[in-house]
Amino acid sequence: MWKGRFSQPTSELVQRYGESVSFDRRLYAHDIRGSIAQSKALLKTGIVTAEEQDMIERGLLGIKADIEGGRFEWKESLEDVHMNIESELTKRIGAAGAKLHTARSRNDQIALDVRLYCRDEADQVMALIQALQRALIECAERNQQAVIPGYTHLQRGQPVLFAHHLLAYVEMLARDVQRVADARRRLNVMPLGSGALAGSTILLDREFIARELDFPAITQNSMDAVSDRDFAAELLFAIALCGVHLSRLSEDIILWASAEFGFITLSDAHTTGSSLMPQKKNPDVAELTRGKSGRLVGNLMALLTLLKGLPMTYNRDMQEDKEPLFDSIDTIKAALAVFAEMICGMGVRAERTAAAAGDPMLLATDLADWLVKHGVPFRQAHEVIGKLVAFSLAEKRGFAELTLPEYRQFWEGFDESVFSVLKVETALAARANPGAPSPANVAARLQYWRGVLSEA
Ligand code: ARG
Repeated sequence: MWKGRFSQPTSELVQRYGESVSFDRRLYAHDIRGSIAQSKALLKTGIVTAEEQDMIERGLLGIKADIEGGRFEWKESLEDVHMNIESELTKRIGAAGAKLHTARSRNDQIALDVRLYCRDEADQVMALIQALQRALIECAERNQQAVIPGYTHLQRGQPVLFAHHLLAYVEMLARDVQRVADARRRLNVMPLGSGALAGSTILLDREFIARELDFPAITQNSMDAVSDRDFAAELLFAIALCGVHLSRLSEDIILWASAEFGFITLSDAHTTGSSLMPQKKNPDVAELTRGKSGRLVGNLMALLTLLKGLPMTYNRDMQEDKEPLFDSIDTIKAALAVFAEMICGMGVRAERTAAAAGDPMLLATDLADWLVKHGVPFRQAHEVIGKLVAFSLAEKRGFAELTLPEYRQFWEGFDESVFSVLKVETALAARANPGAPSPANVAARLQYWRGVLSEA
């Protein structure tokens, strides 16, 4: 492609070192779509005739069909997806093919291809996140009565509905969808016409190209357009954070599936056995997902690090953006899909969760609240109940098994009505403020998400 200026061929090592076709070939459909739009713009300015444009378009569609049919021979010596397709086009249709690259550089070409790719993938990632949200909602609905302890510091805190716990992840995932949608909105700008960095003296109708490729806007600075990878970084951040959310859910699932918790069952289809210990049933899907979140964070760091030292405008370093980008997209899509399936097969061992949530200590806050409602300042109430907790532990009798005179040793005003708060059902129903886990609130939120997700 640059043979005019050079008298020596590229060293084989350099060729192998610099080639990107082994991974950027996956952009072929976007590259061809962009080239067809480019050829139409060339027709509008009279650089190619209608006949030539037709040859280019047919030629490119023929190449696309061959790639998809496994009949295309990719050549490392042609470096990247762009040169592979263009040189094959020229081989097939001659001079018309050699006109295609007029007023275009691989710098704006790759900027376009990656944006088209990110746009498509963003849509798929959002759909997969929503599918996982649906799986979580369904699991919550199947187990709507189940109560579990809510934890802080992995110490039992207060009782909550299992559904409320799952709904926390539905909220997180909704923000992930918003972040991906937001990144998509900002990347949806058409860079073609920026050339290598300073546009071209051949003026193509950029707005026309944008319409051809479904972009609502065109980039406004040619230097920015060829060197901007913000959009990829934003997408990788949204994906990394989604991965972190999946990793946290993984951790919950791994704990819940252990004998120590015993809160859930996972289906045989989504667990693995041990080659040595016959009794084992391992939550590998969750463990792998927790592990893969490291890659997602790493890919984001790789991209940010590669960008930070770059002078304007395009630098070849930027070729290194693709593998982390592709890897993150592939990884999050696979994780979301397998997670949705696993959640569909997840069951709750309600007797185990009820026993754990029945730990009387979980109602200590409710006792303190009872005192507050009877005029005791909260700090003092906290101390009174703290002493009652120590007494109950020493006596090895739960709050409900202590007698009223025993209660009165800690605060004189206790009466029989204190025993009414010592039921998990009462405690849950009393948590009725918006956002809190009363059964009525949880049911309303489940219904809300059902509505939102059925429209999505
Ligand atoms: N393979 C290159 C990349 O991904 C395409 C752009 C190459 N441009 C250049 N001037 N060498 O960045």
